[in-house]
Amino acid sequence: MKKILRLLWSFIRCSLLLAPCSFLWAQEHSYAPSDIENGRGLYQANCLGCHGDDGDQVEGVRFTSGRFRRASSDEDLIRLIREGIPNTLMIPKTNLSYGDTRAIVAFVRSLPTGGGMARDDREVRIGDAARGEALFFSNETLCSECHGVNGGGNLVSPDLGNIGAIRTPGALEEAILEPLAEVRAGQRMYQVMDLEGRVTVGLLLNQDTHSVQLLTEDQRLRAYMKQDLGSHGFIPSPMPSYLDVLSDNEVADLVAYMISLKGEQ
Ligand code: HEC
Ligand code: HEC
Repeated sequence: MKKILRLLWSFIRCSLLLAPCSFLWAQEHSYAPSDIENGRGLYQANCLGCHGDDGDQVEGVRFTSGRFRRASSDEDLIRLIREGIPNTLMIPKTNLSYGDTRAIVAFVRSLPTGGGMARDDREVRIGDAARGEALFFSNETLCSECHGVNGGGNLVSPDLGNIGAIRTPGALEEAILEPLAEVRAGQRMYQVMDLEGRVTVGLLLNQDTHSVQLLTEDQRLRAYMKQDLGSHGFIPSPMPSYLDVLSDNEVADLVAYMISLKGEQ
């Protein structure tokens, strides 16, 4: 009886939004599919840029392990995400509502443990890594003009120093042939134009209803109030397609080279 009363009380508290809905967390590991789906989108927009699409790109943090150093319950995770971790890049996510944060936690908790988020069964030809490396740094491709490999390149193109550890061969091949097919959330280019018509292009770091923050090619962090802008929006990736530029063998060599890039050891 007491238990029922307690449950009833937490239900009332929850529907009045007086306090966290603790009864919802009694069964911590069962989530509505719609929450998980919402969470996936929110994760892509807010977390993927740093944590990566296998949830393992931040050192020491691996979402698929199901274990966290600083959190055990879902409530802990929600608090951590909303409050951030002081003095780290994990800044408070003040733009996310309680419900949004809960959806992200549902998504993170539902990731397959021990494995990647998605299997990739595409068949890919893998050539010669040494030839691929030469090609990567050649004037024929200009890959290295944009991409650094553990440093170098320009700031708005992803560094590929660890790309072999975080992407499948299929994704690497696709990135060369069809760069627009999949542009990762943390790598999307954004353009703002102020009221005087001055245009700035950069990597979108963050945006909310009122403001937008870019990392520009001159390596500066810039914030704009949307009300001060004439226009703003995403623009296509500056990466060209190499579909009709490189032979199949050359693409296979580049893929081999990128697979070999697994971070500085
Ligand atoms: C700008 C980069 C960045 C973004 C964006 C980011 N994080 Fe983090 N996150 C980090 C870093 C770095 C750490 C590790 C901090 C440390 O321990 O030094 C971290 C740590 C965490 C941890 C703690 C893991 C543990 O083992 O305790 C969780 C959980 C987490 N992030 C979830 C998220 C979620 C969910 C989002 C999206 C809402 C997100 N992060 C967005 C950089 C980021
Ligand atoms: C003009 C600049 C530019 C050039 C040249 C360029 N890239 Fe890119 N590349 C980018 C940008 C920006 C992105 C991120 C947006 C996107 O995915 O298209 C990217 C994305 C990628 C990705 C996906 C990264 C990820 O995290 O999944 C790979 C792989 C890649 N490039 C490889 C190459 C290779 C190999 C070459 C040369 C054959 C090349 N790029 C040439 C700018 C460039």
